[in-house]
Amino acid sequence: MKEIRFDGRVAIVTGAGGGLGKIYAMMLAERGAKVVVNDLGCAPDGTGGTKNFADAVVEEIRKKGGIAVPDYNPVNTKEGAEGIIKTALENFGKIDIIINNAGILRDRSFLKMTDDDWKAVMDVHLNGTYFVTKSAWQHLRENNYGRIVFTTSSAGLYGNFGQANYSSAKMGIVGLMNTLKLEGEKYNIKVNTIAPFAGSRLTATVLPEDILKKLKPEYVAPVVLYACSEECQESGVIFVAGAGYFSRAIIVEAPGIYFKLDEEITPEKIAERLKEIINIEGATPFNNATEATMKAFKNLQA
Ligand code: NAI
Repeated sequence: MKEIRFDGRVAIVTGAGGGLGKIYAMMLAERGAKVVVNDLGCAPDGTGGTKNFADAVVEEIRKKGGIAVPDYNPVNTKEGAEGIIKTALENFGKIDIIINNAGILRDRSFLKMTDDDWKAVMDVHLNGTYFVTKSAWQHLRENNYGRIVFTTSSAGLYGNFGQANYSSAKMGIVGLMNTLKLEGEKYNIKVNTIAPFAGSRLTATVLPEDILKKLKPEYVAPVVLYACSEECQESGVIFVAGAGYFSRAIIVEAPGIYFKLDEEITPEKIAERLKEIINIEGATPFNNATEATMKAFKNLQA
């Protein structure tokens, strides 16, 4: 198997001052990429900021002979995102790879969650992913190349008590990927998403210490690096990784049932046939909304 390398490639990793992002940045640099190590250096809830996070990772990369520059811009504003893109272009002249990884948490039950908790989390995860990707999109299209990785979470895919804001943002990111995989297709821009499990300061409060130690970010990074490589021809895949586990999460639709349009369709009939309606055996994925619509409209194809 050919070694997967990133020589001549320029990568932006957001939130790369620690946790998962740091390992992505270090591994990309080790394999030849020039890396923009972006990190605001904030607290887990998004407050404050220090240059130390990004600086420390850049120093570590350079010590090992790699090429990296720090960037301290916040992903959650248009100006910040444009600043990150500028750092990449001014230092390395182009952009090939973007890992949208920066994240914060404001966990609270829905009743206690404030509007600010909602907005702050949406801003960093969903809007941050949007701002950074949007600011680079034209450049990627012009170069006819792009490998983009988004970051979701099992909390978004399946729900998690106390994370209404985070779940919403993380699922919104999946929606963004679903459309960008289509819009990027013609331009060799592949957009995939990672749903990681890793010990980090974000999970330190919810998982026991012995488990956290076994959940190394290094167990997530290989599939993220693959998704950043020329070899990756997939687009629109949600990779799940952690603790040696690698898989794919996917949205599917059950076979469903069709009523004749000339019969009366009542709530009682729904109740009667509910088991058939929600039975997921034989469920199928769709590549786009048109495919899904065609299936739903089968009754109309007389
Ligand atoms: P982390 O807290 O170690 O890393 C996140 C980094 O993002 C921090 O260094 C922080 O300073 C930076 N950051 C936060 N807001 C920023 C902003 N506005 N602009 C630039 N940088 C900012 O946490 P971890 O666990 O490495 O998280 C990385 C990503 O993975 C996040 O998106 C998180 O939601 C996601 N994730 C992590 C899981 C895990 O098990 N650790 C599970 C599921 C998702």
